Amino acid sequence: MKILLGVTGGIAAYKSAQLVREFIKRGDEVRVIMTSSAQHFITPMTLQILSGHPVGTTLFDPTYESEIGHIDLARWADVVLIAPATANTIGLLAAGLAPDLLTTVLLATRSPVVVAPAMNTQMWLDVRVQENLDRLRKLPSYSIVEPDSGELACKEVGSGRLPDPPEILAAVDRAVSSNLLEGKHVVVTAGPTREAIDPARFISNPSSGKMGYAMAEAAYRLGATHVTLVSGPCALPTPAGVHRLSVLTAHEMYGAVMSLAHEADVIIKAAAVADWRPTEPSEKKRTKSEMDGTLKLERTQDILAALGQKYGPSQTDSEGKVLVGFAAESHDVLERGRAKLARKDAHWLVANKIGGPHSSFGADSSSAILLSHQDKFEPQEFGPESKREVSYQILKAIAERQFS
Ligand code: CTP
Repeated sequence: MKILLGVTGGIAAYKSAQLVREFIKRGDEVRVIMTSSAQHFITPMTLQILSGHPVGTTLFDPTYESEIGHIDLARWADVVLIAPATANTIGLLAAGLAPDLLTTVLLATRSPVVVAPAMNTQMWLDVRVQENLDRLRKLPSYSIVEPDSGELACKEVGSGRLPDPPEILAAVDRAVSSNLLEGKHVVVTAGPTREAIDPARFISNPSSGKMGYAMAEAAYRLGATHVTLVSGPCALPTPAGVHRLSVLTAHEMYGAVMSLAHEADVIIKAAAVADWRPTEPSEKKRTKSEMDGTLKLERTQDILAALGQKYGPSQTDSEGKVLVGFAAESHDVLERGRAKLARKDAHWLVANKIGGPHSSFGADSSSAILLSHQDKFEPQEFGPESKREVSYQILKAIAERQFS
């Protein structure tokens, strides 16, 4: 993706170096424009080295204009990000004024624009700044990344901090993606569950949660209005724009999903739910001598099957909900996936292979086959690619067929 980063003059300008690095790391191309005030906080040389391109600083620089003219720059960008955006630049954009290179390019571009304001709390709360932001919010191609709260460089505590890079990157990805899930509430389950034997032991599985977290990230990227991630125990950071509910057992996951189901539009069951739990978990740790080597187990609730019985495609009224299941199979992936999809009565099933050298379990990359209820759509293969990319492509394919 071609990203034009506009850096304006606030103390958070130093964080633009980290942003450039993060974009380059994931394969984006970045060009930078700095306002004259921004250059008091970080030098053009720093951003030139990190981005690998000369940095634009003035409108009337013949050398820069001959490298890439300001109109070409406006056309070149897939997305323009202003981070940090000062009250001054926000005011100029709201008024449609263009006194410098950055604001001129912004008037000339037809690409999406993401504005990440950062400033002192009192400035942020000023009614004129908020009115200017409201004007930008009304422009269809503009999106605003709300600043974080916390201690600011000026030692005040309140709103105005530039959010961390993952949140800004997620806002950029969302701005350039289609809004297929706009207005939708997407519920995703992820990770393993843990079924206690006693306080020191449990039954679980090696699920890392990566696929479910990537699905939640993809839902936000595709414009979902609410994304709720019901997560079993895993150490991953919550994706930007996602509300996370932590659960431990299959029973807790069942309760959380069932209470969210009535307000959800799409439910994605990526969790590796334990199928069995000890019948009588002990409150006290058992010693070796108290254990005879056998463990009595009972079945946990099958959450996807319970959802299917209520909202599945075979039900007379599925209330327009879309159920997406996952199948982790070690062999005969396609046949077993099809059988599982029918058994659980879901609309879609993502079948992937576990075990062997290319196992999806715990890995960073994955390949999968997307199956639809009664083969309404041809099975479609995805990957091998990063779980992030595979999840995005799968969810986009589902959303295109369900909502466009
Ligand atoms: N699933 C669920 N509740 C369970 C078990 C599984 O909701 N108690 C969901 C998973 O989240 C997944 C799908 O069912 O979306 C299939 O999970 P998988 O472990 O592959 O299948 P199982 O139903 O456990 O069937 P089996 O182990 O017999 O293959």
